[in-house]
Amino acid sequence: PLSPHSYQNDWDITEEEEGGSPTTAIKNQRAVSWGTATAAYQIEGGWRADGKGLSIWDKFAHTPLKVFEDDNGDIACDSYNKIDEDVAVLKQLRVNHYRFSISWTRVLPDGTTNYINEAGFSYYDRLVNALLAENIQPHITLYHWDLPQALQNVGGWENETTVERFKDYADLVFSRLGDRVKLWITINEPYNVAMVGHGYGVAAPGISFRPGTLPYIVGHNLIKAHAEAWHLYNDKYRAKQNGMVSITINSDWSEPRNPYKQEDIDAARRVIQFYIGWFAHPIFNGDYSETMKTIIRERSLAAGLSKSRLPEFTPEEIKRIKGTYDYFGFNHYTTVLAYPLNYGNLQHYDGDRGAGTVVDRTWLDSGSGWLKVTPFGLRRILNFIKKEYGNPTIIITENGVSERGPIDLKDYHRSYFYEKYINQVLKAHLLDNVDVRGYTAWSLMDNLEWATGFAERFGLFYVNRSDPNVPRVAKESVSLYSTIINCNGFPD
Ligand code: NOJ
Repeated sequence: PLSPHSYQNDWDITEEEEGGSPTTAIKNQRAVSWGTATAAYQIEGGWRADGKGLSIWDKFAHTPLKVFEDDNGDIACDSYNKIDEDVAVLKQLRVNHYRFSISWTRVLPDGTTNYINEAGFSYYDRLVNALLAENIQPHITLYHWDLPQALQNVGGWENETTVERFKDYADLVFSRLGDRVKLWITINEPYNVAMVGHGYGVAAPGISFRPGTLPYIVGHNLIKAHAEAWHLYNDKYRAKQNGMVSITINSDWSEPRNPYKQEDIDAARRVIQFYIGWFAHPIFNGDYSETMKTIIRERSLAAGLSKSRLPEFTPEEIKRIKGTYDYFGFNHYTTVLAYPLNYGNLQHYDGDRGAGTVVDRTWLDSGSGWLKVTPFGLRRILNFIKKEYGNPTIIITENGVSERGPIDLKDYHRSYFYEKYINQVLKAHLLDNVDVRGYTAWSLMDNLEWATGFAERFGLFYVNRSDPNVPRVAKESVSLYSTIINCNGFPD
């Protein structure tokens, strides 16, 4: 069997040299694969169609006051019934790859392999075939936040048995689709699953009463689940299917509020170690960073606990987790400015990292409060990844911007955003030799932006949800992005 990284040398061989096999641009070091992304709960609808089981997002969104204006994903963009429409707009964009996720409960209604819902599989089967027919590489996320409610009922990600359930689910999907799908993401944004779902509680399952403990337990199990799925692929499928499996980690870039103040520089570093480092350090370098281990242990003991709130990996686990990647999947949107903030012994993540963040008032706004337009941060964090995690191949699995308010198809702010951010990606790639091989715009179309409902719109295409017969409509930015794709960069 191939060791995790040895076969990377094969990627030097281009499609032409190989004799025209349908390899992707991602396997060709000299090109960037351009794509766009969505996720099942945000676009599919069909929440009860053809035997689909309930997920934690079905439950969360049906609970009053959890989602803005009580929006939900019952119908969303109706992608479950609109394969042709979705593929048509992808074709219009001329993307090389399309990132979407599988709804776990559509294929395994109660989360276990006790019962396989063939109708659910048929949807993904048809979608994959339709994409390949247009020469678009499917890039599949196995877990984009919609855990089966049946598994949540027995503890969800807090319960280590979910690691096994995830592995069984991954096994089934690899076996059904892996003959055609070569790009995989195990888990999307473990940071948000842990913190937003189990710390702040503003995403499903909406738990917030142990903010300094539960997110770390959840994060621990997510890392194990990812590693098990990667090993499974490596042992059982890689030789035949020859695909790439990784996790998608999200992180803001963090700068010191005052670049001349050592405390601010230190705070900015802590913010990064508690964000991207929480997950990247175990997977790429082995174990949690010393920064996280030391700080959380000290603060736990100072609060009178007998051990650290951060769970420990055994030496065997550290070995098993380290190196479980074929590329660095990375979601990025914005930058923050950090400064030290002492929360006392408060058992909370923000207290652990000991930092507050602000933004620069000159940065442009977007439709999302947390997202300021800061293109420079992307090049800097790409360089950070290169340096900190051993120059991995990077696929940017999300980057994009939102708007809110009245529908306006002239989304000049989005064109501006993509132009400036992609410029930084190309600089990182070409000038800094960061091995970026993929760029994925979030999102193909306006969709359910989780707890903010349909109010924040990230789409390149507008979706008329009141009249399902109206096709998806291109916003102005489609022409900019498709030009960049067509030129493999900016026009000459
Ligand atoms: C992160 C998530 O993966 C995606 O689902 C979400 O819609 C975008 N970022 C924008 O917030």
